[in-house]
Amino acid sequence: MAADMARQGWHVLPQVLDPTDCSAFRGAYDDDAWYRRTVVMQRHGFGRGEYRYFRYPLPDRLATLREAFYPPLAHLANEWAGQLGRAQLYPGDHATYLAQCALAGQSRPTPLILRYRVGDYNCLHQDLYGAEHFPFQIAILLSQPGEDFEGGEFVIVEQRPRMQSRAHVVPLRQGDAIVFAVNEAPRAGTRGTYRVKLRHGVSEVRAGERFTLGVIFHDAS
Ligand SMILES: [Fe+2]
Repeated sequence: MAADMARQGWHVLPQVLDPTDCSAFRGAYDDDAWYRRTVVMQRHGFGRGEYRYFRYPLPDRLATLREAFYPPLAHLANEWAGQLGRAQLYPGDHATYLAQCALAGQSRPTPLILRYRVGDYNCLHQDLYGAEHFPFQIAILLSQPGEDFEGGEFVIVEQRPRMQSRAHVVPLRQGDAIVFAVNEAPRAGTRGTYRVKLRHGVSEVRAGERFTLGVIFHDAS
């Protein structure tokens, strides 16, 4: 993962959720009890489609994923902070990191589920939610490409200093997770480390329905 992250700013972890888990999350999309806020993307110019932020306490499976993924990512985050010349040190466990977010006035949960239908898409963006942000996030595809939907590719664009931008189209299967850089990534160059800016989005869904789970590690203000 560290090698992929250094090279391209993203890494795919295959089969993080099984089809039963995926369908449970999809099936709970309309159950209002789980969510604190629903966003209709076209109302904000974010794209087209809908997403819902979970409320605390998160569903068990999601809380477990968020806690379990955090420690190895925090280790890598500290390495990146050093390479980017940042003083920031990320604590080793997620509960301590959330306490740090709360001190910065960020205590609303950010994990979300997104639903794209035919014609829906997500513009290139970053999920920052405040001054305090963890450098990595995870998206898990809950639907099966080719069966549940067509189109709807996960896209990452890296903006490189004094160079043209580069796009990545990430192949994902149902249950796969992509770990990717939220904002900046250090890149080794011939004259030392340079920074690239990353943004992510989803291309237009051409058929069916596509659900994704987003696991963001910082909380929102
Ligand atoms: Fe996002």
